[in-house]
Amino acid sequence: MKKFFFFALFSILLSANYLTNKSCSECHENIYDEFQSSMHSKTYFNDELHRKVAQKAAIQDNYDCSTCHMPSAKNQKGLGDGTAKPNSISQRDKDGISCFYCHQIAYVKKAHIKNKIILTRQIEDYKPTIYGSLKDPQESDKHTMTHSPIYTKYVCSGCHSHKRNSHDTLIFDAMGDNMDSKECIKCHMPLVDGKVENMDKKSRKQHHDHSFNGIHDMSMRHKGIDLKIKVFGKRIEVDITNKMPHPLIIQVARLKYLELTVRRGKKIIWRNYKNNPGNDRQGAFKIDFLGIDGKPVVIPAFAYKRGFVNNIEAKKTKKLNYVVSGLKKGDIITASMFVILAKPSCWKTLNLQNSNLKKPMLLKSITYTIKAKK
Ligand code: HEC
Ligand code: HEC
Ligand code: HEC
Ligand code: HEC
Ligand code: HEC
Repeated sequence: MKKFFFFALFSILLSANYLTNKSCSECHENIYDEFQSSMHSKTYFNDELHRKVAQKAAIQDNYDCSTCHMPSAKNQKGLGDGTAKPNSISQRDKDGISCFYCHQIAYVKKAHIKNKIILTRQIEDYKPTIYGSLKDPQESDKHTMTHSPIYTKYVCSGCHSHKRNSHDTLIFDAMGDNMDSKECIKCHMPLVDGKVENMDKKSRKQHHDHSFNGIHDMSMRHKGIDLKIKVFGKRIEVDITNKMPHPLIIQVARLKYLELTVRRGKKIIWRNYKNNPGNDRQGAFKIDFLGIDGKPVVIPAFAYKRGFVNNIEAKKTKKLNYVVSGLKKGDIITASMFVILAKPSCWKTLNLQNSNLKKPMLLKSITYTIKAKK
């Protein structure tokens, strides 16, 4: 009872003090604009893929994805058990992984199913406390600031580390146990030009990019992997190196695949798959699931175990081998890796409308010309 009272009070305090993303833009305009373009600003209401998977996964009309996807919403317990619904009028529900939420993270508790984020307690009628990593920030009349090493060390692992479903099936596992968020920040929040704060003339001239660019950004798509082609007689070897400190496939909706062709003059004389890139089992990277009856399931919430898995772990190389007879001097071999954000099984099950989710996007492409007959 006492515990319940504490939580009730706690959430009243939080709700009383919630500061919207928009309210930060008054002073942190650059950061706000970047954030608005980021996937962190996306929610149930405007991310079709997420919403449709969530709707299919809901057994009692519940939305237990909210702890990571709608963390600023007030009634997490209600969303989890179906007694509350995502509310498109509530700014807290629409703010996504909000500025205020992320900058209140005080601690991340490790757990088997998914990690748990503990927020700092805000005290009513005081300026809210914002956590950050600036060593010696300027004063602000909107908020006080607390420097926290935990903040940079664990801030991303609250949501990005791993997740299991209610049948204890591992859905994603992106961060090793000792992985530091500083590493994530280096690639996904690089320092860019532009003031931290608008008003103050002395404000820092650089800030951390809050676009949180990833697979949705073209220049990032080119940076994740390296490709190499080697030819030994009839054998073509393609080496795919995952340069990222996380697996090649994190998000289970994705399909990443290799297209390998041999061109002679204008004609393509060989390709590693016919119509469907998924048919080349070594060159198609994805995570599939099986249900209780051992049959394939598309919605991860219904998975009892993993089915076909082809992935490349962090910083590892995979060598793929293909045998092509009759290669000649002058033949051009092209190896291209593509990503489809929602693999075909997924867009069929979900009836997706957004064509960007279905079209192949290039990660990287290289060519190799056969020089002399071997
Ligand atoms: C433990 C935190 C966590 C929970 C709980 C969670 N997710 Fe996610 N989800 C993430 C993270 C982190 C990402 C981004 C990672 C990525 O793209 O690989 C993500 C990305 C996604 C994406 C890809 C979105 C896109 O447009 O590219 C979908 C779809 C998704 N989640 C669905 C769900 C659904 C449905 C639920 C609830 C049944 C859920 N997630 C619960 C953490 C979580
Ligand atoms: C009235 C202006 C104002 C508003 C509104 C404002 N801030 Fe700030 N904020 C500042 C100033 C000034 C600094 C100090 C900048 C510096 O030292 O370079 C700052 C610094 C910060 C820092 C850095 C702290 C650190 O230690 O890293 C964070 C994080 C931050 N603000 C988040 C927010 C968030 C989130 C919001 C919206 C909920 C917000 N701010 C709204 C003025 C403001
Ligand atoms: C409160 C949970 C939460 C925290 C904390 C969090 N993220 Fe995310 N992140 C998500 C979710 C959920 C998504 C997917 C959103 C969607 O697609 O709808 C996501 C997506 C991303 C993406 C994918 C962008 C793309 O193009 O697909 C990147 C990169 C990312 N986050 C980086 C970070 C970094 C770096 C940190 C730590 C500084 C961090 N995140 C902290 C929940 C979180
Ligand atoms: C060496 C640079 C680098 C580091 C360090 C790094 N990433 Fe990435 N990450 C990338 C690149 C490049 C992409 C986009 C290309 C891709 O996904 O193939 C990406 C993609 C992502 C995505 C989107 C995946 C998807 O399919 O939606 C998420 C989420 C993400 N990273 C989270 C993290 C987190 C969390 C950390 C810290 C543990 C981290 N990254 C560390 C380079 C990095
Ligand atoms: C997913 C978590 C996350 C979200 C969401 C987020 N931030 Fe940050 N923010 C960070 C991290 C991490 C840093 C510090 C990076 C470092 O110092 O290594 C940071 C740094 C800052 C700083 C200090 C200056 C700088 O760039 O180093 C300000 C100010 C700030 N954020 C404001 C905001 C505002 C305003 C929003 C919303 C528009 C926002 N943040 C959303 C994680 C987040």
